[in-house]
Parts: sequence; structure tokens; C-alpha cells
Amino acid sequence: MIIGGNIGKNKITPNEDAWKDYEICFNELHEMVDYFVVNVSSPNTPGLRDLQQKDSLKKILTHLQSINQTKKNQKPLLLKISPDLNQNDLDDVIDLALEIKLDGLVAANTTISRNHLITSKNEIEKIGAGGLSGKPLKEESTRITNYIFKKTNGTIPVISSGGIFTTNDAKEKFEKGAALIQVWTGFIYEGPAIVKKILSK
Ligand SMILES: Cc1cc2nc3c(=O)[nH]c(=O)nc-3n(C[C@H](O)[C@H](O)[C@H](O)COP(=O)(O)O)c2cc1C
Repeated sequence: MIIGGNIGKNKITPNEDAWKDYEICFNELHEMVDYFVVNVSSPNTPGLRDLQQKDSLKKILTHLQSINQTKKNQKPLLLKISPDLNQNDLDDVIDLALEIKLDGLVAANTTISRNHLITSKNEIEKIGAGGLSGKPLKEESTRITNYIFKKTNGTIPVISSGGIFTTNDAKEKFEKGAALIQVWTGFIYEGPAIVKKILSK
């Protein structure tokens, strides 16, 4: 079974020291996982998404790459991005991924957008801040997957994540350029059998 390690910084660690948290997680998990995903895109850790700026990202990722070089078995290093990046920042992230030869991008994490919801505005406000996952995220995550695929001519594997519940959802992600898919909210609603269901058609 392939196991991925998804690593992030602690809430209380200031962003300038974030690389130290990533280093600790990377070293501790290195022998136990088959690949790493650097998470700088959760909206639930204040300020975390600021680490998606090119300079901060470059520092964290190249640092982990250099630690990786010292290990006997090197592990693929991927980056998980937010669906809320503006066009410039998304282009910067893709350029950086190519420049430092990342092994893949995961698109995307949860969103701060509240589009595509049928719940009333009042109710949404009461529920408050936090990352939104599942169906409302599907289109945007597919669009970003396809954008990365086209811009890189398919040279960077994209793990597509967002709103996958059915075989058709999965097929659509692959048709738009996904190399792999990640199911999260679907897993909560349907349980582990969702994998078999998706694969059975
Ligand atoms: C409660 C919750 C916790 C999550 N925690 C993480 C996390 O620790 N690291 C991460 O990279 N993504 C995290 N995610 C994002 C999911 O892995 C996934 O990328 C996102 O929810 C979109 O996929 P989905 O629509 O299938 O849920 C989390 C999502 C939810 C809803």
C-alpha cells in the first residue's frame, strides 16, 4: 500500500520559521512514507496560505529537497495548492514547480469561496470561516488541474482533488489531465466503499 505524508506547520509557528516545522515532519516521516505533500494551502491555519508566495515556497521546498538528497531512499516531493490562488500566484507556483523539478502538484485544497451553495447567506455567515470542500469545489479544482496540465504540457503529474464522488467525477478529472485523484469528502459521505464504487463502472 502506498502511503503519502502530508506535512504542514503548527498554528503557533510564525511563517518565517515555518521551514523548521516542515523539516521536522519531513525527517520524522521519511522512512515511513512513499511520498510527501507539502501543505501550504489549508485555510484553517491562519497565515498558512501566505507561504504560497514564490520566495517562501522556494525556501521550504528547496530545503526539503536538499535534505532528501542526503537520504538513502529519496522520496517524491509534491506541493498542494489552494484553489483560491490568483492567476499570477498560480503561474508563479507552476514556474517554481518546473524550476526546482517538483515531483507533482496536488490541486486543490479546500476553498474560502462560498460559491455554488444553496444555503442562505445568513446561515453561511453564521457557520463562519473555514475551508469548504466537496461538490462546490469540483469545477474550480478541475479547471486548475486542466490549466496546470496544459501549461506544463503534462510534464508535472497533477493529483486532482475536489468534489469527486462518482465514476464520472473521477473520469472527468483524468480527462482534464489528472495523473491521480484524491477523494476526501466523498470518503466521509460514503465510507471506504466509495473507492470500489468509483472503480466498478
Ligand atoms: C476537515 C478537512 C481537513 C482537511 N485536512 C487537510 C490536511 O491536513 N492537509 C491537506 O493537504 N488537505 C486537507 N484537506 C483537504 C482535502 O484533502 C481535499 O483536498 C479537499 O477537501 C478537496 O477534496 P474533497 O472535495 O474530496 O474533500 C482537508 C479537508 C477537510 C474537509
